[in-house]
Amino acid sequence: MSTSSNDTPLIAGKVRLLPSLLAADFSQLGAQANLALESGAHGLHADVMDGRFVPPITFGADITKAVVDATNGARVDAHLMIVEPERQIEAFAKAGVRGITVHAETCPHLHRVLGQIRDAGLEAGVAINPGTPVTEVLRYLVPLIDRVLVMTVNPGWGGQKFIQEGLDKVHKVSRILHAYGSDAWIQVDGGVSPANAAALAKHGATELVAGSAVYKGDVKANIEAIKQAIETELSV
Ligand code: DX5
Ligand code: ZN
Repeated sequence: MSTSSNDTPLIAGKVRLLPSLLAADFSQLGAQANLALESGAHGLHADVMDGRFVPPITFGADITKAVVDATNGARVDAHLMIVEPERQIEAFAKAGVRGITVHAETCPHLHRVLGQIRDAGLEAGVAINPGTPVTEVLRYLVPLIDRVLVMTVNPGWGGQKFIQEGLDKVHKVSRILHAYGSDAWIQVDGGVSPANAAALAKHGATELVAGSAVYKGDVKANIEAIKQAIETELSV
């Protein structure tokens, strides 16, 4: 059993690190989640894939609930890479996640879905693929957004190469959100590592999701390396 991760100080006073369970050993998800939390993670990122929006199928609300139950109140957020995410909000709320992020590409009625997530008492997030532009339209969603997730790989698989253009996109999201008075989290997901963590934070990222860079090898040392990379560049 882990203690809650809420007391873990933000990296350089502003950034959260949220390991993606996609890269963990699925045969011992609870232990893998707790290992990351005990090693200094701020919460966990659950990648839900449906075989339709993205080719692979991972897990749904029941398995996510098992992780929530195993981690004693820690933050678990669901990243729904699924079509018709509105059909799953209630199940994930019951599973005990803190936040749900849906893809703009899957939601013709994005404003309504974000409202549905908020009505369920959860933090509402919008994810955008590398090929989806960031536009001023974000301003109209600001009252309903707790998190914007900028994908820096095409969703579907862990271990892909970071798409450099994502840095500029993070900056653009951050400019728009700040211009319209939002203090929503700016999350980056895909190919995050010690090599790009500080640059992402400098461009405005406040939440970093990392799968392979956390779970491949020594989890504690990996988490330390990401934190150190940010602290070294941002705390001067
Ligand atoms: C990709 C997922 C990511 C993925 C990140 O579709 O949304 O969360 O697990 O994995 P890495 O950090 O290995 O790129
Ligand atoms: Zn993800």
